[in-house]
Amino acid sequence: MNSGARILALETSCDETAAAVIEGGRRIASNVVASQVELHARYGGVYPEIASRAHIEAIVPVIEQAMQEAHVDFGDLDAVAATNGPGLSGSLLVGVNAAKGLAMGSGLPLLGVNHLEAHIYAHWLETDSEGSAWPAELEFPLLALIVSGGHSELILMSDHGRYEYLGGTLDDAAGEAFDKVGRLLGLPYPGGPAIEKAAREGDPESTAFPRSWLSDSYDFSFSGLKTAVLMKVQEYEEPPQGQPLADLAASFQAAIIDVLSAKAARAAEEYGASAVLLCGGVSANQALRHTAAERASVPVYYPPLVFCTDNAAMVGACAYQHYRAGERAGWDLDVLPGLRLV
Ligand code: KG4
Ligand code: ZN
Repeated sequence: MNSGARILALETSCDETAAAVIEGGRRIASNVVASQVELHARYGGVYPEIASRAHIEAIVPVIEQAMQEAHVDFGDLDAVAATNGPGLSGSLLVGVNAAKGLAMGSGLPLLGVNHLEAHIYAHWLETDSEGSAWPAELEFPLLALIVSGGHSELILMSDHGRYEYLGGTLDDAAGEAFDKVGRLLGLPYPGGPAIEKAAREGDPESTAFPRSWLSDSYDFSFSGLKTAVLMKVQEYEEPPQGQPLADLAASFQAAIIDVLSAKAARAAEEYGASAVLLCGGVSANQALRHTAAERASVPVYYPPLVFCTDNAAMVGACAYQHYRAGERAGWDLDVLPGLRLV
């Protein structure tokens, strides 16, 4: 076992082309992210065909930059890893095939990484940012709230690689709800950061949007909330602007965060978790961070912004645990667009 293993990790599951070199599962030797957000903004969402073509263009320069910034050569690496699911198949294929080519060409082991598990492992990266845990502080069991563009799940993590699914969304993911409501409000894509910005000037109590508690389950449903925002927007003759827009954004954000925070806090208590880990793009949201920390009786950790949204450093941190456990992927490693964590 090489505890200081150095891994080149690739991430291409959606609309970020990313490569990172991670040492010992924690130390970030380099972290490069090329975002396609501007390419997709005009469509109001990720356009799969455009995404995979953009990954093809970006992947080699992004890998070269990650290797240069880490001051390493392929001979200095112990393994190559890539996200192989869940995500868009045409996008995943670019990262997986690049990793296969590099691993095969340099005689290195190959690892496939689950993108959802990688979001959790963003918490093991060494950073000194406020709200981050030092990895040594993380004691199992942990309660992970994974909230991204494609997923909203409450996961109990009892050890490395050991997960129990407590609940998840029955319809839209939290990030998807932010993106769809952003579009309803005439805000640019992605809706999450745009809604958060607009909400800063708004009154979260101006409209009492419905909260879907689904009795005492740990599942979520956000489609009713999205419809309620649509109906409210339709009350206006012109698309709301200024204060009414800020108030709607703040009220929507408060409704979604209320449910996410309350369920995460309750699950942490019920299962005796030592901490709540906020994971995925929506955990970049400051209001979610504050509300979750207020509600939970245990510490709530969140990665620095760059490690909340898609990146390859988290993929490297996750790959390291599998590498350490002796796992290796075969050359037939395939993409799994619908892969689940549990
Ligand atoms: O994890 P991520 O980068 O990609 C997926 O794996 O899906 O998450 C992207 C999602 C988008 O839906 C985006 O609107 C949301 O994260 N997001 C936010 C914020 N920043 C990104 N949602 C709310 N507030 C934010 N500040
Ligand atoms: Zn993600």
